[in-house]
Amino acid sequence: MAKIGFIGIGKLGLDCAEVMAEKHQVWGYDIYPRTSDSVKVCGIEELVTESEWIFIAVPTPHAQGYDGSIPSSHMEPRDFGHDAVIDAIKNVNNYATSSKKVVLISTVLPGTTRKHFYPLLDKKHQFLYNPYLIAMGSVKWDMVNPEMIMIGTEDGNPNALAGELRALYDTVMQNNPRYEIGTWDECEAIKIFYNTFISAKVGLVNMIQDFAMKIGHINVDVVTDALARSTMRIMGPKYMTAGMGDAGACHPRDNIALRWLAQEYDIGYDLFDTVMHAREIQAKNLANYLIHLSVMNDDMPIVIHGKAYKPDVEYCIGSYSTLIGHYIEMAGRSVVYVDPLADNKNKVVESVDESAIFLWAHNRKITYEYTGDQADTKPYCNIAPGSIIVDPWRKLESTDDIQVVHYGNTRNA
Ligand SMILES: NC(=O)c1ccc[n+]([C@@H]2O[C@H](COP(=O)([O-])OP(=O)(O)OC[C@H]3O[C@@H](n4cnc5c(N)ncnc54)[C@H](O)[C@@H]3O)[C@@H](O)[C@H]2O)c1
Repeated sequence: MAKIGFIGIGKLGLDCAEVMAEKHQVWGYDIYPRTSDSVKVCGIEELVTESEWIFIAVPTPHAQGYDGSIPSSHMEPRDFGHDAVIDAIKNVNNYATSSKKVVLISTVLPGTTRKHFYPLLDKKHQFLYNPYLIAMGSVKWDMVNPEMIMIGTEDGNPNALAGELRALYDTVMQNNPRYEIGTWDECEAIKIFYNTFISAKVGLVNMIQDFAMKIGHINVDVVTDALARSTMRIMGPKYMTAGMGDAGACHPRDNIALRWLAQEYDIGYDLFDTVMHAREIQAKNLANYLIHLSVMNDDMPIVIHGKAYKPDVEYCIGSYSTLIGHYIEMAGRSVVYVDPLADNKNKVVESVDESAIFLWAHNRKITYEYTGDQADTKPYCNIAPGSIIVDPWRKLESTDDIQVVHYGNTRNA
């Protein structure tokens, strides 16, 4: 049984610490009060003294307004904040009386660890960079079923500590993960380009959706399904369903931060500016479509069904729903949201009594199907007869009382 400390037990760290606590003795420290049934929440001195492994899972925040829930592609690109990681490293230095195995999980841009973090760590400690591919709503499942585990070492070679970390993970994994060993910088790059590759992929399939709406006689799913099955050149089917844009606490901001990095290293172009700009215009196109339907139907109110960035979680950070809402309001129209979980209650209503234009933003089957078979999203409120549901995922069916529009399928329009 290993002795493990987690510095930063927030959305990522706490669940990961609890997974480790199923097999190991785990301590957790946070600057905010946290509780856990299986992790011993304690002060930093006790954590550092007791732990052989120290995982750092503190935030590397983006500046206000850079999460992607409102337009940001016009703003000056910025790097993430590093203060919390620096604070955690200093705490390890201050309280450690013996050599520790320090593992940094937090997401940072390529080059950051070598430039800003490693020089600060006392050289008696060993260090690995080990970012996680984990999504909100499925943190514990993702932790033990990762697509790959990235382990970054100083020179990119699989050293003894990397082997020890692998052995430690083998005690909790449910799948047989692929291990990718690289330099710190390579692992930083694998993590951030993994996220932003997804944004680019979603941007592309949603572009096909935009064309379907403009050209006619196109069901976007026929096109994207054929592309998704084209595994010779274009890879697998995930994120190949057009719908809402990429969202959440990580992906939009990672694109924004990479824009900063492209400037910093004078790459000469800004690919992710285009990805983020496209994401915004795709949201605007959907907003305009909702407005158009409303105007055509006696100014029926517009309701976005799902405000959090995805179903089953409360987080509105980086939400594509609010980005669409922003464009509806910019066009001088009003919008409300229904979402029982949303952590931002602004313009959230509990019920909608009249018929309305609903945007079906959440589809839990599509979002979580990679974790196993999933139930459909249940309506968050009563849908009054005469309402029109715009389903960007094209899964719902019309009933006698409620018309469903499959946004992205204009075959029969
Ligand atoms: N949430 C995810 O799905 C996810 C996925 C992959 C990577 N990440 C990365 O993991 C890191 C943490 O993300 P998160 O979502 O858990 O963030 P979070 O804000 O939910 O949690 C971070 C925790 O660290 C604590 N903290 C802040 N400063 C601290 C300090 N100086 N010392 C100790 N604790 C401190 C905070 O109080 C908070 O509880 C980020 O770099 C993020 O990019 C997150």
